[in-house]
Amino acid sequence: MPNRPILLGIVGDSAAGKTTLSRGIAQILGEDNVTIICTDDYHRYDRTQRAELGISALHPDCNYLDIIQQHLNLLRTGQPILKPIYNHSTGKFDPPEYIKPRQFVIIEGLLGYSTRGARDTYDIKVYLAPPETLRAQWKIKRDTRKRGYTEEQVIKQLQGREPDSEQFIRPQRQWSDIVVSFYPPQDHPEQSDLLLNVSLVLRPTIPHPDFTRIINSENTHLSSAIRLELDRDMGKPVDVLEVDGHATKEQVRELERLLCNEVPYLGQFCSLEAEHDVIGKVVGTTGETLQSYPLAMTQLLITYHMLKEARIQQ
Ligand code: G6P
Repeated sequence: MPNRPILLGIVGDSAAGKTTLSRGIAQILGEDNVTIICTDDYHRYDRTQRAELGISALHPDCNYLDIIQQHLNLLRTGQPILKPIYNHSTGKFDPPEYIKPRQFVIIEGLLGYSTRGARDTYDIKVYLAPPETLRAQWKIKRDTRKRGYTEEQVIKQLQGREPDSEQFIRPQRQWSDIVVSFYPPQDHPEQSDLLLNVSLVLRPTIPHPDFTRIINSENTHLSSAIRLELDRDMGKPVDVLEVDGHATKEQVRELERLLCNEVPYLGQFCSLEAEHDVIGKVVGTTGETLQSYPLAMTQLLITYHMLKEARIQQ
């Protein structure tokens, strides 16, 4: 096991799927081994103050980015932090909580890669980029069911925040090692979340598994569900792994088996011999249970990187 906690960053705009992905990864690693931190807790102003100042939660000036950076450094060296708490129900701050990092720390939020100092502390950086129409659907669902907003209020908020999204959130994509985009199949744009495809942009900033070999390995049927392409992302060459929404549980297990060959102790954490019905099953932020095999493959790839990093730290 590593000498220090392994830090995974998950960044993306509001309702891009950060919490759902974080939970799914924590489920694979074992919730007792994982600390999840949400950087919404580092907002500088509460909801009333933001409204008075006319500033959105997406603006860097509205967040204690310096304290996020300090805390990331403490967590990376295994030290505790006293973390503020932003309460999404009241729009105010609760008393801070004492957090001692576990073996794996997931830091999810809006502006996690916006300072160089913060970027340098993560072991793996993921950016979530669903198409804007899908993100709007997710945000409407979450904020009306869980945060007490009406649909009109959410739409208005999305429109009002668009300039900040463009200026401060989306540029952070360039700093990620993996860009994750769930998207509906073109012929069924109204497809339910359960059959979304996923596109994974793999930057050469971290050593990815050899997917060409994995797809072509004998005795697998992975090539009918996943495809690898060369492309460019924000001007830089990348590999793109496309996973079809119809991927099956068996294909997830095949991928799991092949990744376990490369990082043997992935097997200790994964479901190979364990309860197979948990594969790809995650409770989303709105409380619904999702079962998505492209999501399961995404979780597997990220977990693979975390464990590989942990082994390097040994
Ligand atoms: C969005 C973001 C949150 C942020 C919140 C603050 O919903 O997803 O990350 O904390 O805005 O705004 P609020 O709606 O709580 O005033």
